[in-house]
Amino acid sequence: MVGAPGRRAVEERLRGLRADLGATFCIANGENLADGVGITPKLAERLLAAGADIVTLGNHTWRRQEINAYLARSERVIRPANFTADAPGRGLAVATAEDGTPVAVINVLGSLFIHPPHDLFESIDELVEEARRQAKVVVVDMHAEATSEKVALSAWLDGKVTAVVGTHTHVQTSDARVLRGGTAAITDVGMTGPHDSVIGVKTELAIRRMRTGMPVRFETAEGGVRIEGALIDCDPETGRATAIEPVRVPYP
Ligand SMILES: [Fe+2]
Repeated sequence: MVGAPGRRAVEERLRGLRADLGATFCIANGENLADGVGITPKLAERLLAAGADIVTLGNHTWRRQEINAYLARSERVIRPANFTADAPGRGLAVATAEDGTPVAVINVLGSLFIHPPHDLFESIDELVEEARRQAKVVVVDMHAEATSEKVALSAWLDGKVTAVVGTHTHVQTSDARVLRGGTAAITDVGMTGPHDSVIGVKTELAIRRMRTGMPVRFETAEGGVRIEGALIDCDPETGRATAIEPVRVPYP
């Protein structure tokens, strides 16, 4: 979700969209809600109230200091697990879907251009084991730049989790698939926000920064808003995915 345009779309449409799609659980990446970078406790609460069951974050987690204490106590807003152990919050949460199924969500950061304190591959097996002790349905939000890292993680976790879903690039990819072992995957679910932009930023500002190499204060764009994501079907008894479809809905 990016900025106020993304938030407005979600607040107005998420409940109806969940009903239309028959979605019993919703995971939302919220790291760009506060004017394009970061999230505040108030915005996190609004996203949960709008119909997200779990909110994940990413490389912009710490942009707003007020989120630190909130993350330390939140059970439904998580940050990447491969930050340091001393950072507030956690990278795994479990919540209950509308039909009573427990769903575990893991949030991890990729390495390319992001350089997290720990490589996710060092801890992902333990995290998945911990998640599976609490839920059959396990979804991993891999917040990362590189398509190769995201494809590699989905292959590594095939048959061990329900889905590996990519976020961060704001560009929806056309590779939604269920792998042989029963894990759904998509390299990036895309962006809920203004698409008449450079990944959410006013186009002229992004181009000015690239053409001049000088600092330019970014502002969130406004036009061409879409809700993007992915809808995953799975068997709650086994946690195996049966289908995945990209979601792409214009707003208003
Ligand atoms: Fe990001």
